Amino acid sequence: MTSLESRQRKHILYTWTAQNQASPVAIAGGDGVWFDDQNGERWLDLESQVFNCNAGHGQSAIVEAIREQAAELACAHPAAVFETKAALGESLARITPGDLNRFFLCLSGSEANENAYKMARLLTGRQKVIARRRSYHGSSMGALSLTGDTRRWPLEPGLWGVLRTEDPYCYRCPLGASPKSCGTRCTDHLEHVIEMEGPENIAALFLEGVTGSNGGFIPPDNYWPKVREICDKHGILLISDEVFSGFGRTGKWFAVDHWDVVPDMITMAKGVTGGYAPLGVVAIRESLAERFDDETLWCGLTGYAHPIACAAANAAISVYEDQGLMENATQMGVHLTAGLQELKRRYPIIGDVRNLGLFGTIEFVKDRKSREPLTPYGTNGDPDSFLGRLRAALKARRVHIAQKWTHLFIAPPTCINQSEIELAISLIDESIAEALAGGSS
Ligand SMILES: Cc1ncc(COP(=O)(O)O)c(C=O)c1O
Repeated sequence: MTSLESRQRKHILYTWTAQNQASPVAIAGGDGVWFDDQNGERWLDLESQVFNCNAGHGQSAIVEAIREQAAELACAHPAAVFETKAALGESLARITPGDLNRFFLCLSGSEANENAYKMARLLTGRQKVIARRRSYHGSSMGALSLTGDTRRWPLEPGLWGVLRTEDPYCYRCPLGASPKSCGTRCTDHLEHVIEMEGPENIAALFLEGVTGSNGGFIPPDNYWPKVREICDKHGILLISDEVFSGFGRTGKWFAVDHWDVVPDMITMAKGVTGGYAPLGVVAIRESLAERFDDETLWCGLTGYAHPIACAAANAAISVYEDQGLMENATQMGVHLTAGLQELKRRYPIIGDVRNLGLFGTIEFVKDRKSREPLTPYGTNGDPDSFLGRLRAALKARRVHIAQKWTHLFIAPPTCINQSEIELAISLIDESIAEALAGGSS
């Protein structure tokens, strides 16, 4: 352990881990899809610093905007009027679909979901909400209660009234369908839950645009339009959590843009500032937000619309536009898909690969026929397992990447180029081969 790491470890806690199991990289700076560690070694960032640094490292326009804002105005009352804040509203209104033209600003994805949840209850007067079983919506108690996955378990009971519906996880359909026979099985299940719980009691349905850390589930094309129809029928607000899937991750501003669906709210964070400052946003339809013109919006925080976060978001949105990063993510996604398909062709330990834009997933299995996951749900594999050896092999090649449970996620910054995609695939290829052979020789 370096002296810097031991100094840090003495006082600062690591998240989501037993402290003695953390194995962090000491990051010094970066450029594009690369970052340097404190020893001057370059790492290929296939995780974008927790799916966050979507515009890439070292984007000088964002850094400069933060610097200018800090020099001009760095501290303001949540209700204060200033140029960068007004401009952020205009930028967000330009990129959000339909009439999602009013915005609530906070500090994280968790807070965005908390506030969307509160607004849904205030607007509908209903108390229950629905979220999917394999989902993540954040770490604060409300957002964690919405979360379907194992991160919720240690802190139960959470909020009352969160109902579960099944995921469009077509490779491993929880309702026993196959993509060919499926039709609308998971949206039928949603209708069933609504009927059994009473539509008049249900305020909102929370869905990730494309499921993120639970496994990169890309829904069938009829899924989002059907869900919109069901919510309209029952007066249930449809909320797309785009904290992970927004800002170019899938090649669009928001994943729902792939299916031309306008949700009632979109929650966002991470890539909205390219990860250069903390910011969460709830985008809400004009027609819904109008209610708060005369009624109190019982939501707020001291760090609301922080000037530095507003400046970072304005600059990040301009960078995505000026550098054509949505288009690049779509084009590079074609190469990523091809690379992933080739890996699947070569390695039977890969059961499925999926990709949309620059959000690729490799799903490992014990056996292709049974589709049994390599590790039980919620576990990552011991250091001496295939997955442990794979982690070590990737680390040895200075590939920064997320492996969670039986999945490996490939989610680089949207400024990646074709040769970097090819390099990423070849380093993953070498690492899988080494892990299969039993580890480094
Ligand atoms: C889909 C989704 N929603 C919400 C969150 C929570 O965001 P934050 O960590 O900024 O609170 C995350 C974080 O990874 C996420 O992936």
